[in-house]
Amino acid sequence: MTASARAPARANLLGEHTDYNDGFVLPTPLPYFTTVTVAPGNQAGMIEAFAARFGQTLVRPLDAPRQGDWLDYPLGCVTILRAAGIEVPALRLTIESDIPMGAGISSSAALEVATLRALRRWLDLPLDDEKIALLGQRAESEYVGMPCGIMDQMVSSLGTPGQALFLDTRSLAHRLVALPSSHQLAVVHSGVTHKLTEGGYRQRRSECERAAAALGVPSLRDINDLSRIDGLPEPLNHRAHHVVTENRRVLDGVAALERGDVAAFGQLMVESHASQRDDYAVSVPEIDALVDSALHHGALGARLTGGGFGGCIVALIEDVEAWWPAVQTDNPRAKLVFPRSDKESTDG
Ligand code: GLA
Repeated sequence: MTASARAPARANLLGEHTDYNDGFVLPTPLPYFTTVTVAPGNQAGMIEAFAARFGQTLVRPLDAPRQGDWLDYPLGCVTILRAAGIEVPALRLTIESDIPMGAGISSSAALEVATLRALRRWLDLPLDDEKIALLGQRAESEYVGMPCGIMDQMVSSLGTPGQALFLDTRSLAHRLVALPSSHQLAVVHSGVTHKLTEGGYRQRRSECERAAAALGVPSLRDINDLSRIDGLPEPLNHRAHHVVTENRRVLDGVAALERGDVAAFGQLMVESHASQRDDYAVSVPEIDALVDSALHHGALGARLTGGGFGGCIVALIEDVEAWWPAVQTDNPRAKLVFPRSDKESTDG
């Protein structure tokens, strides 16, 4: 018997680097997918996997430690399931994906969620979508070794296309928020893929933990009064300032969407970008130029989306088709990722 499942990529609209601070996020799924098909394996105690994108097959013992390649993600999922007492027999995976790599739209979370969904089906596991997201995050942080938050796995597992997922990453309470009908979202890849993403991410995360410890709170989510962070040393004061104000922007952004105030939402995106650039220092010049150009050509809002140090911006525009050619002329390396110009994936 075989089982197949897919999971989408995402863009985050507001709430960057807040998820590992127990804060608020507002991501939305993008129509790019990773599909995983699982079948019984031929070799006892082994995982065998074929990644169509690389034309590569890898074979490894089910109890192997991470190797630093793409098989770590699905094997991490298997490892976390086995650690939870679920027996996983020898298996063979086929992985297909049209999610652009290195774009910061969460190809790794999609791979984890698709793997866990396929395993849920294959082994008839009693796991709900929230549990799938939590297991995927554990696979990535505990096995792969990337200390991510829960946003990407939650939106890949629970998101609804065309809607934003407003998520409290502390309680995991969430609800869907309609996107404006008068405007379109655009996701544009800057053309910059930074190899340092993981190091920078880890460093920001530990700066936030140090800031929270210095303030005597479990996490920066617990700070509302900005004057409390004034006494923190550099750069912890700036990091904390980003997180505290970014949490507010998510709450204000949800309120703006719910009252139909697109201009206010766009303004919050602009402020979020400035905060990521100036306080959190996760942007790069190419991304800043792209954001400026997006706004100059009429976007209501534009900001770096995802982990940073390169990757994509997300922008809010009345008419993407009229806007994109001018932005592309300013930024020849940039690529429009969403809306998709090619035929959307129809698999799964
Ligand atoms: C990456 C991580 C997420 C989140 C974002 C930044 O995508 O996987 O958990 O921290 O960066 O908002």
